[in-house]
Amino acid sequence: MDATFLWVLGLISLLTLASLLLPLANRIRFPYSVLLAAAGGLLGALLLGTRGVEPPGPAGDFLRALDTLDITSEAVFLVFLPALIFESALNINARHLAADIAPILLLAILGLLISTAVVGLSLWTVAGAGLVACLLIGAIVSSTDPVAVIAVFKDLGAPKRLSVLVEGESLFNDATAIVLFTILAGLLVEGGSASPLGAMGNFVKVFFGGIVTGLLAAWGMAWVIGRLRNLPLVQITLTVCLAYLSFLVAERYLHVSGVMSAVAAGLMINSFGRTQVSPETWHALAGTWEELGFWANSLIFFLVGLLIPKVLVDVSAADALLLAVVVVAAFFARMLVLFGVLPALHRLGLCHQVSLAYRAVMLWGGLRGAVALALALVVLETPEYSAPVQRLVVTMVTGFVLFTLFVNAPTMGMMLHFFGLDRLSPTDAAVRNRVMALSLSSIRDGLAQAAGQDGIDPALADEVKAEYDRRLRGVESAMLRPGEIPDSALQQVGLTTLTDQERQLYLQRFAEGLVSPRIARMLLAQVDVLLDGVKAGGVEGWRAAVNRSLGFGPAFHAALLLQRRLRVQGPLASMLAHRFEVLRASEAAVVALIAYGEQRMPSLLGEGAAAALQPLLQDRLQATRQAREALELQYPVYARTLQRRHLARIALRLEESHYKRMLDEQVISQEVLKELLRELAQRARAQDHEPRLDLGLDSQRLLRRVPFFSDLGAEPIREIARLLEPRLVVPGERVIRKGEPGESMYFISSGAVEVGVAPAPVRLGSGDFFGEIALLTRRPRTADVTAIGYCDLLVLHVDDFQPLMRSRPALREVITRVARERLGGAYDGPE
Ligand code: CMP
Repeated sequence: MDATFLWVLGLISLLTLASLLLPLANRIRFPYSVLLAAAGGLLGALLLGTRGVEPPGPAGDFLRALDTLDITSEAVFLVFLPALIFESALNINARHLAADIAPILLLAILGLLISTAVVGLSLWTVAGAGLVACLLIGAIVSSTDPVAVIAVFKDLGAPKRLSVLVEGESLFNDATAIVLFTILAGLLVEGGSASPLGAMGNFVKVFFGGIVTGLLAAWGMAWVIGRLRNLPLVQITLTVCLAYLSFLVAERYLHVSGVMSAVAAGLMINSFGRTQVSPETWHALAGTWEELGFWANSLIFFLVGLLIPKVLVDVSAADALLLAVVVVAAFFARMLVLFGVLPALHRLGLCHQVSLAYRAVMLWGGLRGAVALALALVVLETPEYSAPVQRLVVTMVTGFVLFTLFVNAPTMGMMLHFFGLDRLSPTDAAVRNRVMALSLSSIRDGLAQAAGQDGIDPALADEVKAEYDRRLRGVESAMLRPGEIPDSALQQVGLTTLTDQERQLYLQRFAEGLVSPRIARMLLAQVDVLLDGVKAGGVEGWRAAVNRSLGFGPAFHAALLLQRRLRVQGPLASMLAHRFEVLRASEAAVVALIAYGEQRMPSLLGEGAAAALQPLLQDRLQATRQAREALELQYPVYARTLQRRHLARIALRLEESHYKRMLDEQVISQEVLKELLRELAQRARAQDHEPRLDLGLDSQRLLRRVPFFSDLGAEPIREIARLLEPRLVVPGERVIRKGEPGESMYFISSGAVEVGVAPAPVRLGSGDFFGEIALLTRRPRTADVTAIGYCDLLVLHVDDFQPLMRSRPALREVITRVARERLGGAYDGPE
């Protein structure tokens, strides 16, 4: 009872102290995590100093409680790490991470190996300890700590890409360090030998096995979470379970990296899980994780701090010298990677450029923390290590962690400031000034009126107004003269704002139940592509991204191929069905964006830049509408089915808000509302299933639509239909390429194509055929033929062409006549 009491008391006292330190850290603008470690250190020293003296009462209990909180490496790994890592990954945008994955992996894997070698060898030459022990220390101090790094970067408001680079590195290199540690520790304790090849194979298995485990676990859990609607508490709890289960199962049962597993699970929930729960639940989920992260973060830094004095009581001057060697070697190795290997990789085209300022900050920002200490604790807790090795490992690692926490972390802010990374870009500053000037002047104008309404002395109102006038003049004088910021930069800001707004619109549509989770995910992915486009290429990048979003991507072409080669229709049908919904939703969004842009953009960007955005949006609207109409023309029945479902969904939504209003007006009770909503949810589920799209690719049916087959009887139609293969082609698709050998001819059952002949292209429509000339003359294709809209074609292969010509003389006559007309005098095929 007493032990448990002390344990709870200790934990809660630490949490209380930690919470009170946060406002202090904010006030003195000092990194919170470092302040915690410092406070922990002070408490630890107090603990040491009062050994043997037992103050009575609560104070004594408190000290004894701290003493019971002896942190073990297992506690760090099993209790804190899963939550901390999952929370960090949950906050990293997977797309940003993917964009910079090359430099991140380079730093996390190669960088760690280089650093291990450099630190290990340097220490070995001066320390008089075994090489393996020195390398072990090198591996431990080389892993940058995500918790420390993220905490500091969050505090300082570093640019997004820089944070992603450093956070990504620290998330990934923990796994590398732990694997390397295990291999070296095996060598040291068991005295075995490790082949470099075996070690590498092991590393790949552990690293990527962890990723696969995490992804699968998260995917499964996301599926379960998606089924449990209206149970936000359960959904959120399950993400906590996922964080721990993915870690524990990977480590204990699959013998792969638990860290990588938790990282992958967090990333997956961030990108995929968002549309598995309602937006309110996501909000609550993010809040819960923020809280959990705060608890774990606060406690771990405090506990790490408590540990410090115990380790440092018997440090000698010689230790300090060795530590200096470790510090210099570690930073030198990091410099080697950042300034030697990274630029080389960029020159080889393997990764994006990372600016000099970023690299300098990354060099300084590689903080070490809990993971390194936990690994040192493992050495301390394992009796197989000799006492001198244990001492060396623990003093070097603790010393290095302290160095980065107390030297690097507090000076990071200065570094960022020195390189100007904590300032707004000129464009952002211009936008901020304009928005501020606008709000100040409207507040100033509103003041007099408000004062009048509330009967306040006008003189007083004037005084307050004068204050606003003064601020306004300040902002106006800081405002750059028009033209100083190029319009293109302002338009980039405008498009970014509009695209953010677009994301909001889709999330709202999802929240209202108007689109399914899957469509919502597609729409959000489309927004990401647009944002990346704007970021990389401004207006042109945005335009290219819009075109790409309206085109048919690789997945669509794979589905087309599947249908053509293997006659598998499912994927193509569902892709077209999704395209319908995506196009409808984007069209509605663009209409809303046009109105939003008209209203908001002028005050943000100025009239000129704002006006330039409108034609861009209008073009997008037109192109989207065209794409949607082309699809509707091809599948009118399906279009109506979707519209009907959409209306039904809107009706459900209206019904729900109607019921809720009745509750607000106390017409119905909570119980009645619950019952009504339950019924409503049942009906909503019925609207969930995706209506099937019938591609209509049936030769006989298509054949009957071609005039010169239509009056044939049922039997000949069936016979000819056997020779013809139905095929859907999509707008813009080139069916025939000029100059290629001809293998088939085509009958158009519905749709239209364009034949690229001089002087002007010729259009062919339903009932026409093309591609006959190459089959008749056995010469290369005479022209390009491109689909204008969706077309249902019937393909006749060259092997079946001759038999059909022989058995159907009337058909042969029509085809040769048309070919001769098309070629003019140049026809030299059979009659
Ligand atoms: P082929 O040469 O096999 O491939 C290109 C096709 O374009 C050709 O067969 C005809 O079917 C079609 N084509 C060529 N010239 C014309 C034309 N002047 N008018 C209509 N269609 C044509």
